[in-house]
Amino acid sequence: MTASPSLTDLLQTAEEAARVAGEIARQQYRQPQNIRQKNGIRDLVTDTDVKAQVAALDVIRARYPDHTILAEESAGPEPADGVWTVGEGITWAVDPIDGTTNFTLNLPMFCTSVGVVQDGVPIAGAIYDPLRDELFGGAYGHGAWLNGERLPAVVERPLNEAVIAVDWSHELARRQQIIETVDGLAHHCRTLRALGSAVLGLAYVAAGRLHLYANFGLKPWDSAAGAVLIHVLGGEIRRSDGKPWTFGESWLMAGHPALLDEIGQVLDR
Ligand code: IPD
Ligand code: CA
Ligand code: CA
Repeated sequence: MTASPSLTDLLQTAEEAARVAGEIARQQYRQPQNIRQKNGIRDLVTDTDVKAQVAALDVIRARYPDHTILAEESAGPEPADGVWTVGEGITWAVDPIDGTTNFTLNLPMFCTSVGVVQDGVPIAGAIYDPLRDELFGGAYGHGAWLNGERLPAVVERPLNEAVIAVDWSHELARRQQIIETVDGLAHHCRTLRALGSAVLGLAYVAAGRLHLYANFGLKPWDSAAGAVLIHVLGGEIRRSDGKPWTFGESWLMAGHPALLDEIGQVLDR
């Protein structure tokens, strides 16, 4: 019987896979892209997304051939209720390029995300921004790092000092929910951003560059690695209705628990 891999080994593999895929995206950045629509006009994929995914999966499979992989460019359709389930054991949740629309526009805001999920709970993850050479990594019980430097706890700010990032999911009903959330918060917070990369939004909350990230159309490969960073640094993730978020649910808000409490009162759900 093979021994279970250690969290440190899993994190190291996640970091290597994220770096390899991110490096492919960096090399192809600002080059002509073959762009296709995936699920309608708002969901794009390029040949570079596919190449980057192959490279990331090669790294993972070389170490862990028996593990399950849930990777964006080979995943099946979204479940009708928007809740993705992953099975027992270890699942790797891989987004080869998060921020593909930015990537196709030469807008320098995209990254690779590799999350390790055990029995449905994200336990380790790496996020690599190849243009800034920033590697965010974290594992339960170990902490989180940015380029090898330990990150401090998620920053606590009252709503009137908070910088909030949202993103626009591909589905129009979920965009409407974001419009309503922005409408509810814009008069109360310091300011708002939309980065076009959900994964960087979560990483930046972990790193104290933003105070809240909200997106109501996330897939497991968008949230797995970021969820680890947020949780190990004392942040929280809640659903858009304020209830505790479970991995696989699409609608989430991530930030310091005190800010999430305050937002819950302002939105009065
Ligand atoms: C998308 C981006 C976008 C977010 C969408 C994601 P992709 O990921 O993160 O910012 O609003 O919900 O699907 O398609 O570029 O990997
Ligand atoms: Ca994504
Ligand atoms: Ca993607």
